[in-house]
Amino acid sequence: MVQVRPLKSIWMNGRLVPWAEANVHVLTHGLHYGYAIFEGIRSNATDSGPAIFRLRDHIDRFINSAKIYRMGLPFSREELERACVDLVADNGIPEVYIRPIAYSGAGEMGLDPTKCGIQVAIAAWVWGAYLGEENLTRGVRAMVSSWTRIDSRSLPPQAKCAANYANSGLAKMEATAAGYDEPILLNSVGMVTEGPGENVFRVKNGVISTPPASSGILRGITRDSIVRIAKDEGLAFERSDFSREELFTADELFFAGTAAGITPIREVDGRPIGTGKYPTTYRLQQRYQDAIHGRAAAYLHWLTPVPTSRPVRA
Ligand SMILES: Cc1ncc(COP(=O)(O)O)c(C=O)c1O
Repeated sequence: MVQVRPLKSIWMNGRLVPWAEANVHVLTHGLHYGYAIFEGIRSNATDSGPAIFRLRDHIDRFINSAKIYRMGLPFSREELERACVDLVADNGIPEVYIRPIAYSGAGEMGLDPTKCGIQVAIAAWVWGAYLGEENLTRGVRAMVSSWTRIDSRSLPPQAKCAANYANSGLAKMEATAAGYDEPILLNSVGMVTEGPGENVFRVKNGVISTPPASSGILRGITRDSIVRIAKDEGLAFERSDFSREELFTADELFFAGTAAGITPIREVDGRPIGTGKYPTTYRLQQRYQDAIHGRAAAYLHWLTPVPTSRPVRA
């Protein structure tokens, strides 16, 4: 968890406003009914200035989340992308986490959100590795949650909707109260899905695997980047379901997400994972770090540069 330190500005409905003025009414519809979709994106320092990682893919997922929830976004993909770039430039800090959110606004109450105007905001703040800097090398202790992961018959996991995170929050609180760092959620047939805000990967006998989209996960953009990097590194990879006990018998396990980066899992339900050495995880982590910091020519197309002297529209 992080105490958010205020920056200079937040983008709200088409313009940058001072941080302290980016407020919503207490009767905001999305606040009551969870009708909000959002994204989590990062800008990172590179030798040629700040760059946003896979911005187009994140905005595409944002648009898809809105489609699933019948939300008419009042901004185009290009406008949203430009807003993210302007926001990072205006706040003047290269390494920030960027949070676009679209939600049903104030004015109407009741369960049909289609009559509420859709509001869009984008905030940014400084956020280190979500599961702890030290755990990028040491690894986290995970537990299998007693909460079942939502599925597309109830809350579609592929829409990054605020309501989904009540399920994630229940699992996270349970894990924290039991003395673990992070939960892993199973689906309704007992197969591994993901963490509360990260995808899960397993390495066994040299093969890297991650549950398929059909298991009930959010299709992570970090996950997709890892698949591409693994392929480029000549590592064996498959999308496959695995069970709770296959977590225990893995050679390596790791979480992957924009907030968490690539974080090894050193223990599940009190059982140490593998030998405690994570060569494949560290190799992928290194290559991913190279990609996000513009040190790998093969992945420069994933970066959107933020011109630091860019004039920002009022
Ligand atoms: C539930 C869930 N799964 C997986 C991820 C990882 O997705 P990404 O790599 O796009 O950040 C996230 C983060 O957005 C998430 O909230």
